Amino acid sequence: MHKAKTNSAWGGRFQESTDAFVAAFTASVGFDQRLAQEDIAGSRAHAAMLVKQGVLSEADGEAIARGLDAIADEIARGEFVWDTALEDVHMNIEKRLTDRIGDAGKRLHTGRSRNDQVATDIRLYTRAAIERILGEIRRLQAAIVALAEREAETIMPGFTHLQVAQPVTFGHHLMAWYEMLVRDAGRFRDCRERLNQSPLGAAALAGTTYPIDRHMTAAALGFAAPCANSLDAVSDRDFAIECCAAAATLMMHLSRIAEELIIWNSAAYRFIDLPDRFCTGSSIMPQKKNPDVPELVRGKTGRVYGHLVALLTLMKSQPLAYNKDNQEDKEPLFDTVNTVLACLRAFADMIPAIEANREAMYRAAGAGYSTATDLADYLVRRGVAFRDAHEIVGRAVHLAIERHTTLDTLPLTDLRTLSPAIGEDVYESLTLEGSINARDHFGGTAPVQVKARIQQAKEKLQN
Ligand code: ARG
Repeated sequence: MHKAKTNSAWGGRFQESTDAFVAAFTASVGFDQRLAQEDIAGSRAHAAMLVKQGVLSEADGEAIARGLDAIADEIARGEFVWDTALEDVHMNIEKRLTDRIGDAGKRLHTGRSRNDQVATDIRLYTRAAIERILGEIRRLQAAIVALAEREAETIMPGFTHLQVAQPVTFGHHLMAWYEMLVRDAGRFRDCRERLNQSPLGAAALAGTTYPIDRHMTAAALGFAAPCANSLDAVSDRDFAIECCAAAATLMMHLSRIAEELIIWNSAAYRFIDLPDRFCTGSSIMPQKKNPDVPELVRGKTGRVYGHLVALLTLMKSQPLAYNKDNQEDKEPLFDTVNTVLACLRAFADMIPAIEANREAMYRAAGAGYSTATDLADYLVRRGVAFRDAHEIVGRAVHLAIERHTTLDTLPLTDLRTLSPAIGEDVYESLTLEGSINARDHFGGTAPVQVKARIQQAKEKLQN
């Protein structure tokens, strides 16, 4: 059998060249070229460390640093030619380096393996992605808080079971979204904190025989410390799973927001108007203005959940240490990050332009006897036990239904036949304004409480 080496990285051991389909099947450069800048940063740190430790000469170190800078520029300018035969981003860059600077390029891989290299790259990528996601979450929160401030006094129905339950303010409802995003940001920050350890120096799996300084490379790359176990360092992908889990929860929240926007924007509700530039029309029904942006965000939630399950399944039952399976970690992670960033951006841009239809919200808040609980609470204040009060109010609602009227328009004489505890002042409790203003405690819907939380949120977002 003739010796045709397609791959100089391991050709020495092989008697025949890789099958063409297998080469394409195993290659990852089509997607892992996304890691080029991270890969170069890792190589710079590794080479500088080898020079300091006397493993590489100063001259080699300088040639490598200059060569990597030039390659980084080529890639940034889109001039770099990626070769599938060179399998992945790591070998493409290393080969180019050797083409440019000669033998020094061949010495870069001393004391290193693609296993610790890729683990480092993907951590650097995830760390930077989390920074961007946190920035977009903040931008969306600011948009929500600004709208909440504008609508702090706007009364709308609060729902349970999608039935009108009790009046709330639109500002209060919006600030509930803000709180969801506070937790999302916390989950991403936790993930960032735990992932910030350097796998570099773990080499293939067991470490290396060269006198390396893993603390130096960790510090150079902004990691808090090197990973403590070389086997774990090259095989751990928890951080990718955690990032995707945080993303899945975030998307769950965005899909809930999307759903409410879609319902509120519907002709039956008309609580809000989405700006035209975030909607599209129908090619057949001229009257249509469709809420495509929230619908797409809701729809994209599925793929992000899918990526989380893909990664969990990818890692399931993998024996230590590195397995080629791990090459499959990248596309789900990249697509998760891209999807989440796009959805956050779409909402952050759209939400400030939402028009609230205050009259429609107010009208809907009054329907459905939404102040019934307020009447019960009124009776309790007058000495009636809550269960008895509940019964009395039930009868009041029944009466109002029979007469096709509302609670606050039932005459006092009729109300008093239901309970003598009811006095003239009951009507204050039956108005929507009375109802929301009465919920005046921390976390309640009273506009003073909502405004206080908005103030805190604004201060937090400014830092
Ligand atoms: N492209 C590989 C990956 O993404 C790089 C590591 C390859 N290591 C190996 N032993 N084949 O995981």
